[in-house]
Amino acid sequence: MLNVQPETLGRNWSNVLQAESNFMSVPDSIDETMDTLHSGGYVADRSLATVLFLSLKMKRPLFLEGEAGVGKTEIAKVLSQALGRKLIRLQCYEGLDISSAVYEWNYSAQMIEIRLREAAGETSKNTISQDIFSDKFLIKRPLLQALESDKSGPPVLLVDELDRTDEAFEAFLLEILSDYQITIPEIGTVSADEPPIVIITTNRTREIHDALKRRCLYHWVDYPDAEREMQILQTKMPGIGNRLSREIIAYVQKLRHQDLFKKPGVAETLDWATALIELDKLALDPQAISDTIGVILKYQDDIAKIASGEGAELLREVKTELSELA
Ligand SMILES: Nc1ncnc2c1ncn2[C@@H]1O[C@H](COP(=O)(O)OP(=O)(O)OP(=O)(O)O)[C@@H](O)[C@H]1O
Ligand SMILES: [Mg+2]
Repeated sequence: MLNVQPETLGRNWSNVLQAESNFMSVPDSIDETMDTLHSGGYVADRSLATVLFLSLKMKRPLFLEGEAGVGKTEIAKVLSQALGRKLIRLQCYEGLDISSAVYEWNYSAQMIEIRLREAAGETSKNTISQDIFSDKFLIKRPLLQALESDKSGPPVLLVDELDRTDEAFEAFLLEILSDYQITIPEIGTVSADEPPIVIITTNRTREIHDALKRRCLYHWVDYPDAEREMQILQTKMPGIGNRLSREIIAYVQKLRHQDLFKKPGVAETLDWATALIELDKLALDPQAISDTIGVILKYQDDIAKIASGEGAELLREVKTELSELA
């Protein structure tokens, strides 16, 4: 049910639903934020947990920027699960417009309604137009849904890959994030009882305007260091062998220091581990790497570079370093 402000109320929505207050509340400390994410299988470093904690407390959107596959989208998914909140996802793309992001009228249903009423002898234009521009004929898209009250508390709104949209949409989003309300000309102004938890992600294929960033708390999500990546791997794949996991992490970490067009993200590390386990590997060897390189590298130039000898050298370094540590 939407909350439409009474003073701008058209006709049909006089009953404003108040959100129930018995939902799971947001974490009270940075440690609790880390635990909340961890309970959903997300291993956050302290700086990420801190900015997330602050964004929840200050009720400000969290703007996450970073390379592909470093866990930006996952934060919103895990947070919504851990807090028992609805996840509303707006996947951005070039050409995204208001009818896909906010609302549109269900024209065909409106036409049928008009015909039925005319057939039934109803002639009052006013009554018909009042009724067809009502909740029943409104198709709510993610940004409008995010303003709705929900018994599980304010939802998590994930605006994913904002850099794929154009600046006009960005400006529109800024307007919504400024006061969490949307005006629908035929109905009035719809506003949220409580602001949703907003997480915006971008891969930085273009810069997002300062005005929007200023509304948000910003965090650059970096590749994890070896220790955290090992925690992620063990959290996601608890049964993985010690030797294989150590070699995978050491190799991927080294790979990220190579001059590659596209470095592997955490997603690739997890996929690689899965692939190697599927092939019954207990440790890395040149053949296993060559057989599975397409799981971690997705550009032929990068694959050729690693296949041409750099990969073998990396593997030698990994084996030497790990044997020295043992
Ligand atoms: N810190 C982490 N803890 C647990 N899992 C993680 C972490 N970081 C990444 N992952 C895992 O890596 C995968 C990719 O994460 P995600 O899709 O969130 O990346 P992304 O940054 O949104 O990438 P893209 O920019 O390509 O959309 C997910 O399956 C997620 O489980
Ligand atoms: Mg993503």
